[in-house]
This record gives sequence, C-alpha cells and structure tokens, in this order.
Amino acid sequence: MRTYAITVMATAMLAWSAGCASVETTAADKQMEKKIDKLLAKMTLEEKVGQMTQVTLEVVGGESSEDGWLKLDEKKLQDAIIAHQVGSILNCGGQARSVDNWLQIITQMQAMATKQTRLGIPIIYGIDAIHGANYTLGATIFPQHIAMAATGNVELVRIESEITALEVRASGMPWNFSPVLGLGRNPMWPRQWETFGEDAYISSVMAAAYVEGQQGSDISQPTKVAACMKHYLGYSVPLSGKDRTPAYIPERQLRQLFLKPFAAAAKAGVATVMVNSSEINGIPVHSDRFLLIDVLRGELGFEGFVVSDWADINNLYTREMVARYQRQAVKMAVMAGVDMSMVPYDYSFYEHLVDLVKTGEVPMSRIDEAVADILRVKFQLGLFEKPYPDKQLKEQFATDASRQANLQAAREAMTLLKNESGLLPLGKDKKVLVTGPCSNKLSILNGGWTITWQGDNEALYPQEKSTILEAIQDKVGASNVEYIEAVKFDKELDISRAVSAASRVDVIVACLGEPTYCETPGNIDDLMLSAPQIRLVQELAKTDKPIVMVFTQGRPRVIRTIVDNAGAILMAYLPGMEGGQAIADVLFGDANPSGKLPFTYPKYSGWHVCYDHKKSENAAPNKFDPQWEFGHGLSYTTFKYGDLRIDKNNISADDTLIVTVNVTNTGQREGAEIVQLFLSDIVATVTPPVKSLKRFTKIFLKPGEKQTVKFELSWDDFAFIGRQNKPVVEPGEFKISLGGLTKAFEIQ
Ligand code: BGC
Repeated sequence: MRTYAITVMATAMLAWSAGCASVETTAADKQMEKKIDKLLAKMTLEEKVGQMTQVTLEVVGGESSEDGWLKLDEKKLQDAIIAHQVGSILNCGGQARSVDNWLQIITQMQAMATKQTRLGIPIIYGIDAIHGANYTLGATIFPQHIAMAATGNVELVRIESEITALEVRASGMPWNFSPVLGLGRNPMWPRQWETFGEDAYISSVMAAAYVEGQQGSDISQPTKVAACMKHYLGYSVPLSGKDRTPAYIPERQLRQLFLKPFAAAAKAGVATVMVNSSEINGIPVHSDRFLLIDVLRGELGFEGFVVSDWADINNLYTREMVARYQRQAVKMAVMAGVDMSMVPYDYSFYEHLVDLVKTGEVPMSRIDEAVADILRVKFQLGLFEKPYPDKQLKEQFATDASRQANLQAAREAMTLLKNESGLLPLGKDKKVLVTGPCSNKLSILNGGWTITWQGDNEALYPQEKSTILEAIQDKVGASNVEYIEAVKFDKELDISRAVSAASRVDVIVACLGEPTYCETPGNIDDLMLSAPQIRLVQELAKTDKPIVMVFTQGRPRVIRTIVDNAGAILMAYLPGMEGGQAIADVLFGDANPSGKLPFTYPKYSGWHVCYDHKKSENAAPNKFDPQWEFGHGLSYTTFKYGDLRIDKNNISADDTLIVTVNVTNTGQREGAEIVQLFLSDIVATVTPPVKSLKRFTKIFLKPGEKQTVKFELSWDDFAFIGRQNKPVVEPGEFKISLGGLTKAFEIQ
C-alpha cells in the first residue's frame, strides 16, 4: 500500500473535513498486497504501462447491426488486449446495448484478457451510469442527480445507487464513472444537473450515500461496482460558465466548499477518482501534484486509483498549453499522480510512457505505484476469480420494485415553486390544453447520459413510458386534452392555434424548459429561457385561462418576465423515465410535492450569488434577490414549526449542541417536509457567509401529526477555514435558523 507523509496540518485538516479514513490492515489486505507484489514482480514494463492505458469501445468495436447489436472486431481487440495489454476499456460505442449484447462483449474481452495474455490480468470495464444503467437498454433510469438532491431523501439516493450498481453489474461491468461531486454554483455550466446542487453539505451527505450504495461494504459482492468520484476538483465553477474553461478558486474556498463532497466520498471508501478536465488558478488539474497527491492521498486518505478524463492528458499540450509535446504531457500527468489514462482512441500514451521509463525520465517506482493501485481495485472487485459477468443477475434487472423506487424518486423530486389560490392540484374533471416543446418527448425528461451521450435520440426511448402529455391524458382521458406544441425551443410554430384552443379548456399546462444536452454541447450564452417559449406564455396569458408552467430543465433558466403569468409553477428538473407520470401525479394530486430547490434560482442572468453568500452581497445598494431561494418548495399541506430549543446557550468549541424542533402537519393531506438547519457565525476573522446548511432530514407526516426532530452539532459544524487555510472555531455569537425560527448561542 502507498504510504504518504502526512503533515500535522494535513492530519488536522483530514480530521476536520473527512474523518480519518480507516488504516486498519486486515490479514486479507496483507494477502492481497502479497498477490499484487508477486504479480508486479512478474510484469514487464509494457505489461505495466498497458494496465495504465484505457481505450474506448470504438477502438475495438466493429459493426453495429440495425437493432444496435455490436460485434467486436477480433483483430482490433487482439491489438488492444494482447499487443498493448490495456488494463481498461470504456464507454458504449455510440448508444446503449442490450443486456445480452453487453454480456457477450464483456465475456469476449475477459476471455481474451485472462486466457490469451501471458499473465491473464482481467480488464476493468468502465461506464458512465450516471442516473441508472443508462447505457443498457431497458434499465431503470432515475432522475438526474440535481433532482435526487431536491428529494432531500438520502435513503432514496442510496437505493438509486444500489439499483444502478446491480443493473450495471448485470450488464457485466464492474466500474461506474459516477457520482459527479462538483458543486453546482454556476447555473450557466451545462453539467449543473449532474451535481447534487450548490450546497457542500447536501452534496457530501449524498456523495457518501451514493458511494455506499455502489460499493456496499465489499465491492467483490456480485451486485456491487467500483464507484468513481469526479471530477476532482473545482470543475463545476468555470468563470465563463462554459464547460472545460478555467476556474479561479482560492485555496480557502476550495477547502471550505469544493473539497468537502470528495472528502466525504473518500471517507466512504470510494475506489476510484476522475480528474477535472480543466484548470484551477491556471494549473490544469491533470498536472497538479499538490491536489492529486498531497491533498487527495495525503489529506483525504484516498487509496484507490486516479483516472484521467477523456483525452485530458493530450489536452495538456493541445488545449491547456502547459506542455509543448505529447510526450511531455504524458510525463507531466503521470508524475502528477494520474494512474490511468483515458487516452482514449490510440496507443500514443502507452508508447510515450514505455519510452519515458526506458530513458529514465519516469521512474519505475512511479509506474509500480500506479499499477499496484489499479491491480488492487481489480483484486478487490474479485475480477481475478470471477472475470466473467454473472448471468443470473439478469433476473434482477429492471424489476417492478426498481420501477416503483424510480417513480417514488421522481415524485419526491417535484418542487412546487408557486401555487396561487390553490390552483394545484387540478381536478380530474378538467379539460386541459397541453402546450410547449417539452410536452411530448421522453428525452426531455431524461437529459444527457440517456441511451446516447446527448440523450436526444427519441426513437431509442422505451415507448411504453409516458411523456407529460401521455400521463396527463391518462389522468383525464385523451378526449379532454388538446395538444398543440406551438413552439420549438428556437422557433415559433403556431402560437395562435394554442391561443384559440385555450378558449375550449379549463386550464393550460405549458411544458417548458431546455432541449436535451450533455457536457460542452450544452454551453449557452444567456441563461434566459428561449424567446419563443416566453412569447408563448405571454400570448396565452392574454386569455383568461389559468396557466400551470411545468419546467423540465437541467439548470434554472431565467423566467422573471413570465412568472406572474402563471398561477402555478412546477420545477421537475430532469426527472427520468418515470418523470411524465410523476409530473401528472403531482398536477392532479395523486402525489403531494415535497422537493426543495438544491440551488438558488436566479432572477437575472447577470446577478447570481448562492444562498451562502456574504453580507455585502445583500447590503444596499446590492440586493440578494433570487427568483426563489435555495430550499424553497411548497406542498399541498402546511407545516408549522414550533418550540425550537437548544440544550445550552453557552458552549465550548468541543461541546455538542443539541437542537430540537417540533414540526406539525397542520393541513388536510399527508405530506413530507425536508427540515433544514442553517447556522450563522455572526463575526469571524474571514468574512462569514450569511448562513450555511448544517443538517437536514426528511419527515413524513399525516394530517395533524407532530414530530420532534433532533439534530446534534459539534466542532466540525462550527469551524470554518481561517486565515491560515486551516479549520478554526472562533469564540463568539452563533445563530441557528430553522423553519423561520431562530436561536442564538455563544461559543466561549
Ligand atoms: C466526461 C466524463 C466521462 C468521460 C467518459 C468525459 O467527457 O467529462 O464525465 O466519465 O467522458 O465517458
């Protein structure tokens, strides 16, 4: 196992941010280390560098038949596995495959790797199963993680992750490039929906639950996979808002916010990490030894292996311009701590690295370290004993119970932003006009990483699932629904037809939002909702019919100019394959919405700060004036908070503070409430945020039912990253706020 010199400062940081990762070494661990050493001793330089090389499926894939069945090219496969001894292959070759096709593909690869190579080292196949096993046809496809964060239900995240792990493994693959742990603090960024939102605490709790769901206590179990936290670190807040452009994050803020979810996942034992494609403060992270070794390994105690992102070692010399030649880029990344290169199209990395070791520019000790880390994960996964997929798992693939869990997740994500005069829920006796570009597409509900990378191939979606339109037709009968698309995202079709149809119905449901996108193709120049959609609402508003706006979108598009036109607004995010039904369930009262915004919803394109902003960002003439605040979300019932108590008014920094509050369902319907506790440090030597979320829990209450919720806070919660970039707790006044109630206390 690697040993790193952990400084006193680093140890203190680790204890604060992650809790010490367990360093207990069991007899089984020792056995495994012996096996790794033995294998390493037998390996040639080429075999070692091969293990560090990852290529994409296209490199070994042949033809796809019309029904999407992919047949590997035996010759290309031999070139990868036998001639270049690659350690890993990834991706789906353009589109999702059937379980049977995956089983055949993985079996063929493993047979070649284990039987036709000198040492028989199995391949570790990696896939982006971001919201379910989205590259396997017919899988359970969950809401995207921004929506999972909105549920406020950590248990649901764990269940999502368990089902995903099972379905990925049932497809023969043992490694999942998920979860994304960047903080979605710049709504322009096209990967906002892959995050758990803007808050470091929610993201940390959900990161741990997700990793536990993927890996369980032991990744050799047949239904578990190795998770991959990504993209370490600071990828999510490009200053320009465009994907893969520079971020500028001071070390204090890196530690205060961005490191926390990664620390939580590392503490949960995550097996692998993928590196931020871009740069922080001018240093591309693929070349940053401080972040990849000192912080990741030394402070967070991460013990798995580090994989580059797509072509990002090459990007060091083609895009980031910190290396003049490819060879220099390879050396830079490997010496900075990258263990495996997602090359992904050729063997250039392999060739350069072999040569770099031969010429003594990269020491063999560094190669041994990287290969040992890769082999360890392969051993931990049990791939040496069981390289082949477990065919029995197919019976547990996409079961009805999984579908139910998915539907529950989609329902719990629904976030009711506005509901004037109780417009919602709608009666099932209503005549409805359904309009807008998001009304009748499954792809719109799912977003990127669904069946294809961009998620936009509607023809490949499972036709038995319901779009919003179809789900509404199921509620009120098709004859009571008029459907006029009226506009596309970027052009008007026939707004006047929609306006005249409005006269024949009781209510208008406008399905608005964003087209489907993923990564850089989702870059935008303006956060405003597209002009044709705005005009559609403005024209419909001239009729006297009530308007319900439903948003399916990956990031909060600015809608300030039409908010007043709607009686009700439902934020559905990207709710997944059961999203159509979940939306209709909420619209017609078969489910009570309970989601809360995991980000601050901006009112203006040019003025956005998160909920944990500084006081100066809300001091005249500046005004913190979002469209809706982080944590906003209405219900069809009402909750009353009362009797907020703390067990002490004066504590020392090492004390535990116990906070209790009573929450009562004062309405007529069963409902769920996410109880969120915020803490404010009133005066500090580093300007404090106005408040930070420290705890949350979701409770389910029948009408009239009351529950006492208890939270405990301690040193970690009172601490912030001080002027020396180390966590400190400073004496003084603190304030707790919870459900509109507050309590003050002093730390002495
Ligand atoms: C993305 C990663 C992903 C990788 C492999 C990259 O473009 O940034 O998140 O895991 O591709 O598909």
